Amino acid sequence: MKDKKMDIYRPPPGAKGYDSGLKYSSKTEDMNGFEEGVEFLPTMNAKKLEKRGPKRLVLVVAVVLICLLLSLLAGFLVWHFKYRNVHVDKHYNGHLRLPNHQFMDVYENSSSTEFAALARKVKGALIDIYNSNPDVGPFHKKTGISAFSEGSVIAYYWSQFSVPQYKADALDEAMAKIKSSNQMLLHKARNPDIRVESLVAFPSDPDIMTASWDRSCRYALHAKEGVITSFSTPGFPNSPYPSNAHCLWVLRADADSVISLTFTTFDVEPCDLGNDFVKVYDSLSPVEAHALVKLCGSFNPSYNLTFVSSQNILLVMLITDAKGRYPGFKAEFFQMPKKTTACGGTLTGTSGSFSSPYYPGHYPPRVDCVWNITVPQDRNVKVRFKEFFLMEPGVPMGSCTKDYVEINKEKYCDLRQSFVVSSKTNQITVHFHSDLSFVDTGFWAEFLSYDSNDPCPGKFTCQTGRCIDSARRCDGWLDCTDASDEKNCNCTEKQFRCQNGWCKPKYWLCDGVNDCGDNSDEQQCQCPAGNFKCSNGKCIPEAQKCNGRDDCGDGSDEGSCGSAVTVPCQEYTYKCRNNQCVNKRNPECDDEKDCSDNSDEDNCNCGKRAYRKQSRIVGGQDSDVGEWPWQVSLHLKGEGHACGASLISNKWLVSAAHCFRQENFVRYNDPTLWTAYMGLHDQRDRTNAKVQSRSIKAIIQHPFFNDYTYDYDIAVLELSSPVTFTKEIVPICLPDATHEIPSGKAMWVTGWGATQEDGIGAMILQKAEIRMINQTMCNTLLPNQLTKRMMCVGILTGGIDACQGDSGGPLISIEANNRMFLAGIVSFGDGCARRNKPGVYTWVAKLRNWIKEKTGV
Ligand code: ARG
Repeated sequence: MKDKKMDIYRPPPGAKGYDSGLKYSSKTEDMNGFEEGVEFLPTMNAKKLEKRGPKRLVLVVAVVLICLLLSLLAGFLVWHFKYRNVHVDKHYNGHLRLPNHQFMDVYENSSSTEFAALARKVKGALIDIYNSNPDVGPFHKKTGISAFSEGSVIAYYWSQFSVPQYKADALDEAMAKIKSSNQMLLHKARNPDIRVESLVAFPSDPDIMTASWDRSCRYALHAKEGVITSFSTPGFPNSPYPSNAHCLWVLRADADSVISLTFTTFDVEPCDLGNDFVKVYDSLSPVEAHALVKLCGSFNPSYNLTFVSSQNILLVMLITDAKGRYPGFKAEFFQMPKKTTACGGTLTGTSGSFSSPYYPGHYPPRVDCVWNITVPQDRNVKVRFKEFFLMEPGVPMGSCTKDYVEINKEKYCDLRQSFVVSSKTNQITVHFHSDLSFVDTGFWAEFLSYDSNDPCPGKFTCQTGRCIDSARRCDGWLDCTDASDEKNCNCTEKQFRCQNGWCKPKYWLCDGVNDCGDNSDEQQCQCPAGNFKCSNGKCIPEAQKCNGRDDCGDGSDEGSCGSAVTVPCQEYTYKCRNNQCVNKRNPECDDEKDCSDNSDEDNCNCGKRAYRKQSRIVGGQDSDVGEWPWQVSLHLKGEGHACGASLISNKWLVSAAHCFRQENFVRYNDPTLWTAYMGLHDQRDRTNAKVQSRSIKAIIQHPFFNDYTYDYDIAVLELSSPVTFTKEIVPICLPDATHEIPSGKAMWVTGWGATQEDGIGAMILQKAEIRMINQTMCNTLLPNQLTKRMMCVGILTGGIDACQGDSGGPLISIEANNRMFLAGIVSFGDGCARRNKPGVYTWVAKLRNWIKEKTGV
């Protein structure tokens, strides 16, 4: 073919009309035609035109016509060479059934002669079918048979086509229609001893098409009765998996069995850093329509990664790109009789429980389970779903078009917090459906019978059927998911009425949080028009905002003025290492360069967990392994866990000063009394290889720590020797002294402290989500107790809080890009988790300079 570049006309350099774009020179004689043409266009100039004579007109028309023809020709050539003649490659994967063939074990071996013989026949039949369709046959390039499995015989194939761009859609359509197994077409297949049924073709999984790989690895494994078979990525665990790899594991079991597959270790490149992933298919063809899951990143060992097939086959695929090599996975599988996937049934009695198949493992694809629940005649029944995970990629929220639970014609899907569905009779039917692709861990539920006249004895019944403590009715908090506990309330004298009718505690007025939902609790307290409301409540003229001066007195008018700008330094501006100041709120470690010397992004190897966030356990408060990798447990000689702490570098911890005060003639600030455990999850499992323990070299309490008020409740501890960072041991980021935390912000507190007031400590590290409470309100809740170094954080309805034994541990604030900062240190509280008694935390930002001074961190 001619080099296309040659077709483009390039005038010699300097030629007029080329370098000057659309400006035509009116002085050039031979350009008259253009010049005049431009002038002639308006028809109003017809008279002028006549005067110039008919000869000229003919010339002009001819030139215009020739130009037109030329451009048409050019257009055609471009279309022909660029689109019509350009071929695109199309790949399809699919399978078909051979009803008049019997499966033989040798078919599992793709190098056997029997395999080759049958493959040849199937290939021939496929090509015949393609050739009978003018949208398909002419473009076929290659077809291969990749595997056979039981079910008479099912053949898995791939086909490659090369088709002109403009015919590509027609090919897609024709291949999609092959699905509907046009019998006529299939019988045309010339080969008489091969009958083809249930032929389907899918465009190849786009995930595979976009991957570029040059290393392929294939494995075929057959489950052995009563034995667990394991396999892993090449090199595991001694070396990372290869780059640019395309590995396939064909897993098989005996006919009439299904496969249970579990990834026991999974550590692949994080999903946001690259394109490495593992996909599992409920088929031997890697087609999206039968994909069960796509996995990337790293899962901690306690996460359930068990999958069950619908047939006796599974395909596991690993695709890696050129960069980022990680350890990979180890997996095991075994076969079980197909009938064990049977689910549903009849449930009777006054209460009981049931769950999706293999819960908490992933449910299999292609199941329908129906539970018919009947409770005694005189009672009604309700079902409470305690955990509910039916998520499918690509399904619009709430549409429930794929997997779902159906009760009383209503469908439930996605992720849901615990919810209740009740029936007005003594019967209820629950139907669970999973489609061909993508599975999740499913649900577990209990059913209860209740007296229809008194569904919640001694309690308030939400309209959803849920029972809540009567004291929660009209308390200002939404306890029922439908808010029915806060409707039709008479406000008490301690409450005010929102515009929407809700009653809320008076001290929530003007606290900067929209408690009413319609913001009416914050409206009366707004500044007059044209004014800005400072965080401390002061009103200043709008014009004074972001003028580089602290007009509020707390810097809040200068805190968030768009992107970082260098401004005169103030108490509230972030100071870069080069002593310039920027006026962006919390610029440190936000992955954006704000200081001209980039010092705001220095030392930011902190505050990111290595495992992907996966805990979807609603209501439970156990942490996952590695979820809070900076959490430290401080053990006191002879007594065990006594306080928490946070790792801020490989040899420094931050904790609370009060953990080390002198008491009963014991000097707890003696470092030899303490041992620090890093990477710990379960207090009973301190010898776990992931745990690193250290003795303490030095304990430095803040010199201003006040034993009575708990002001300056902070201490730093030096480890006897540095720890090694691992997935379970990562330091937390320290906030800059100017770091701001708005009231209402959600934060996390973690520790092994008591799980209730006067209770005993937890074995598994606990976590709780609590909220920043504004200082003014906190002063009214905990009068005469707070200093500038303290912040109140909690949930005012009560029930969620830190407690004895959590002291010294971290209060974590999640900032930009999911990076976590040590916002506070557990310090004290009035009891634990009481209503309107938030916990008090040492305000780390206010003591940032002291930490730096003592530790250099
Ligand atoms: N001082 C307690 C300790 O030593 C911590 C109390 C925290 N209390 C609370 N309600 N937030 O463990």
